[in-house]
Formats: sequence, C-alpha cells, structure tokens
Amino acid sequence: MKKWLYKSFLIQEFEELPSTNSLAYEMAASREIISNEIIMAQAQISGKGRVGRSWESPRGNLYFSLVLRPKILSENIAEISFVSAVAIRLAIEKFSKKLCENKWPNDLILDGKKVAGILLESKISGVNCEFVVIGIGVNISSYPENTIFPATSLFGGVSPQDLLQNFLDEFEKIYAIWLNFGFTKIRNLWLERAFCLGKNISVKLTNEILEGIFKDIDEFGNLIIQVGNKDLKISAADVGVV
Ligand code: BTN
Repeated sequence: MKKWLYKSFLIQEFEELPSTNSLAYEMAASREIISNEIIMAQAQISGKGRVGRSWESPRGNLYFSLVLRPKILSENIAEISFVSAVAIRLAIEKFSKKLCENKWPNDLILDGKKVAGILLESKISGVNCEFVVIGIGVNISSYPENTIFPATSLFGGVSPQDLLQNFLDEFEKIYAIWLNFGFTKIRNLWLERAFCLGKNISVKLTNEILEGIFKDIDEFGNLIIQVGNKDLKISAADVGVV
C-alpha cells in the first residue's frame, strides 16, 4: 500500500481490495480514519454498486472512497451524492471531448452511456450524521458489457491518480459551497447538465414502472416526474430512457 497526500487529503492506495467502500467504512467506524481520507484501489475483487449490484473493477479504471464527517443532520446526507456527482462530472469533462451529464440519482453519462457511478454509504447517530463514505468508480480504460443501462469509458487519456486529483480540486470547491450556502446552488449545477431533463423517462420502482416527463429535482434531490397531469416525487429508483 502507498500513502500519498494531495492538498488536505490523505490517500491510501492499494493494489487490490475487495471493495474500497467496505474498507473505508470499517476504518471510519473504528476511527482509524477520521476525515478527508481516501481509500483507493487499482482493482477491486468485489466492488459494490447501488442496490446490491456488483461493480466490475479491473485494473485501469478509478476506484476510490472518500470519508468525511460533516456536522449535518442525517436528512441532508443524500445531498452529498449530488455534490460528488457535480465534482466528478467537472473532472471527467477535463479529459473528455464529449459533454458529461448527470443522470439521476448519481450516475455520470457520456454519449448516452454510463461512465461512472457513485455509492454513498453513511453511519447515523440519532438524527446526526457520524460519517459518510463517498465511493466513486470511473471507467477510464474499460467498461462492462451486458449491463442494464449501457456503459462506456473515457477510452484512456488520464491515469486514475490524475483523475482523482482533478476530482478533489472540484470537490473541495463544490463541497465548500454546499457547507456554506446549502443545497440550492448544487441543485442548479446538477440541473445544468441533467440527462433527459424535460424528456420522457421510465422510472423502475419496486413493483411498477412509471413513464413520464423528467421535470425537475426538488430541494432534497427527489426526482419529479410528470405522469399524465400529475407531478410525482420519487426518492429512489432506476431511471431509463424511453
Ligand atoms: C453504481 O452506479 O451502482 C455505484 C457504483 C460505485 C462503485 C464504486 S468503485 C469504488 C467504491 N467501492 C465500491 O465497492 N463501490 C464504489
């Protein structure tokens, strides 16, 4: 394992781990990691995706988990995934000729395909957030086939370490805006490049699939979809293109 510093962040870079999120979570829970620390791996054996899915993690892509201890209420934790999604979008755009878009809730899209994903895990004490683990995977040089939503990669052009540093440059700024001024500005930054905004989407809930127009995200980051003449708020789902 290599340890290196970038700005106020301490990075522990492993050759291979089961999952950077799992190790970061364990180390945060046992207070081996306090804040602004990152667990990075060149490859993961059992990388985790959202809703219990796996995240294919061969060498050549970026896999990391950032631990933070913001003094916030648990109800605001989900906002951090939008902060992270805007920061990774801006970092990706520096190395991509194509525009990168934010797909609700926190996927990154290049050319209509998924290039990166975010898995936010947290520990809560009462109504307070104890810590959050922001896990990010970016397909730099390879992407998985046969995914539910089609995937792509940056097709090289940057090393995982350089992309991480660029993410941290952006994250520092956007996280400070969020801590000082709240979610409104972050929501606007996210909406500036929202995949399928104003278009028809499908939303897969536990027992049904809704189709309608993606209208907005609200002040908590919920998706607002217009189905018929009704606006519905969705807090968790998979979004597809119609
Ligand atoms: C998703 O889109 O389903 C979220 C994918 C998150 C993958 C990253 S890779 C680094 C970190 N460690 C994990 O096990 N998962 C996240």
